[in-house]
Amino acid sequence: MKRRKKRLRVDRILYCLGILIVLVYLIILGISAIINYNIFKSVKEDNVLKTNRTNLKVWTKTINYINENVDEITLKHDGYYIVLNGNYIKNHINLDLNKYTTKINKDLFKNQKGLYIKDNEILEEAISIKLKLPYYLRKNKEVDIYGVKNGNYELYKRRVTVEDKYISFDTSKKYDDYFITYVGLESINTKTTLTVYVGDEIDVDLKFKPSNATNKSITYKASNDLLEIKGSKITAKKKGNTVLTIKNTKNNISTDVKITIKKKQKKKVEKQDEKTYEIVNRDGLYYIDDILIVNKTYPLPEDYDPGRLSDEYMDAFYEMQAHAELDGIDLWIQSGYRSYSTQVAIYNNYVAMDGQEVADTYSSRPGHSEHQSGLAADINNPDESFNGTEAAEWLKENCWKYGFIVRFPEGKEEYTGYIYESWHLRYVGKEWAKKITESGKSVEEYFNITSRYE
Ligand code: DAL
Ligand code: ZN
Repeated sequence: MKRRKKRLRVDRILYCLGILIVLVYLIILGISAIINYNIFKSVKEDNVLKTNRTNLKVWTKTINYINENVDEITLKHDGYYIVLNGNYIKNHINLDLNKYTTKINKDLFKNQKGLYIKDNEILEEAISIKLKLPYYLRKNKEVDIYGVKNGNYELYKRRVTVEDKYISFDTSKKYDDYFITYVGLESINTKTTLTVYVGDEIDVDLKFKPSNATNKSITYKASNDLLEIKGSKITAKKKGNTVLTIKNTKNNISTDVKITIKKKQKKKVEKQDEKTYEIVNRDGLYYIDDILIVNKTYPLPEDYDPGRLSDEYMDAFYEMQAHAELDGIDLWIQSGYRSYSTQVAIYNNYVAMDGQEVADTYSSRPGHSEHQSGLAADINNPDESFNGTEAAEWLKENCWKYGFIVRFPEGKEEYTGYIYESWHLRYVGKEWAKKITESGKSVEEYFNITSRYE
């Protein structure tokens, strides 16, 4: 009997405690709702956001908290924070946070962790975005920002520094959405042993995992003085054995290559490539050997749609980018894959601007652009002002080492059909890139083909 009484008393105390907790919770909810309502009302009436308090919760579905400086507002959604600034906020007090979705668009950014900012009409008015990053992004101190438009994306800002958990960047009318990402390098893969001759430039054939790692900053160091290392250029100086260490300074990942340097043999005089090449059509695509040919004479089918730059292109680009950086050159892809319909819009725009005859010298008609093949991209700045810059000269000098050719070389307009485009790099693989570049010829001259609209 006694025991049961005791249990009864315990039950009652727990019951009362439960009711008390619920009551307190309801009271807090009630008070905060009243405070929120009043603040919201005053904000609405003034049409200006005013408060001296930070971290103030106002209507979870509208504004989450307001910065004391009035001209900044922080929106919290799904654990992410978006800070908007500028006068436009004042006219958009009833922000619908559900429009700001922060998710990864899996189709576009396969397996890539990041923050996807979906645009809406409010963000469209923003001239800049200040964003608080989740830990996995900000821990790396820098991020890349991609701009997304009509299902296509391109690198918008490279290596944006994270400052006190935040990044800031100007918006661009070119994009609807943005994707903020950081891809850490896991390993560097190269040939483990190499045999070269004195005087040879060494091709270590770098492959990065993941290939799109953004924190690449490589350095080379040799175990002795048998190699000459000048930026991205490594030359075998003397006979002997050495170990080349390739290290990513950003996260200390490194790999070694054992190199045997032999005395130079007499070079065989290489025979001039006098082969005649045949162009064949396979499933509507024109090939010479394994090179897909796209020019004014040889189009791609309208429905040919690889959807993005090829993996070979990207791998080669990342290797080239890491080497360029060693020489103090920053490279990025400004315009990569372009669909048939995108080319329609671009080309028509140029025709409207300059007339068809002029437009045809620098923009391909739909179906005739290499951009549609996923094997060509414009580097850094697709504009005549890029010609002759340090980066353009570096590309001209070095891009073949990674399998690229400057597809529309200087002075070759009569063959290629296009003016000099120092920024337009076509991937053809290392072997062809070397042969074609060494020949000093354009693709059209090398293979003896035309580039002319019917
Ligand atoms: N600018 C090059 C020729 C293209 O439009 O593909
Ligand atoms: Zn181009």
